[in-house]
Amino acid sequence: MPMIHVGDIRLNVIEKGRGTPLLLAHGYPLDYSMWRGQVDGLADTWRVIAPDLRGFGASDATPGTVTMQQMADDLAALLDALAIQEPVVFCGLSMGGYVAWQFALRHRARLTQLILCDTRAIADSAEAAAGRVKTAEKVLAEGSAVAADALLPKLFAPATYQQQPQIVEVTRQVILRTKPDGIAAALRGMAQRPDVTIQLNGIEVPALLICGQHDGISPPDEMRGIAAQMPNARFVEIAAAGHMAPLEQPDAVNRAFREFLTQ
Ligand code: MLT
Repeated sequence: MPMIHVGDIRLNVIEKGRGTPLLLAHGYPLDYSMWRGQVDGLADTWRVIAPDLRGFGASDATPGTVTMQQMADDLAALLDALAIQEPVVFCGLSMGGYVAWQFALRHRARLTQLILCDTRAIADSAEAAAGRVKTAEKVLAEGSAVAADALLPKLFAPATYQQQPQIVEVTRQVILRTKPDGIAAALRGMAQRPDVTIQLNGIEVPALLICGQHDGISPPDEMRGIAAQMPNARFVEIAAAGHMAPLEQPDAVNRAFREFLTQ
């Protein structure tokens, strides 16, 4: 697996294809492999780059707190390390979407289009943030299974649990392999993430917002509302998918990506 030095850490990065770079930021507490349908399905037209974010997969973890701003800066530094100067398509899912907002706000010149999958613009409530900090302590004390048990029942559409149980099991294995340090640091970072709602009308880059029909974490109506507040955004709902739409329904998601990116 190619490890790339980025600032104080090494990131594991998967790359396939040639063309405009399409940088994919995964959700919590997952790794690059949630994008396998996009890496395989879009590399005929784009240079698909799927890193494990700081603390996840095979990338190095740093203890304490890892903010969404830090992860966005890691990815800008990754583009430097790969000698990519042209603007990229940045696509993030859920936590990767929180990173995408920060990338758009901090590294606008590096961005040609933005794709947000199953994510939110608001910050955590005080109660939700306190819950994350508690979960971080529990993960450090008891291991990554704490995160797997908490999340797996919420990630997928009913049809996915019934008809694609292998996806659920593979996702469990990914979470169980994730370092507790990395999970805890990202939980603390998500708890501190800024509310970007009032900045949405200034994110004028062409944007596609995608949401699974059955996403209960970042529901379709909420994402439709985010798209409505952005000057140049469109919204697509993916049928028979939950919070992990690109993994559950890769063909429908790839169609939406292609339509948007080649318009
Ligand atoms: C994710 O899928 O990245 C998480 O659900 C994000 C979150 O916990 O807010």
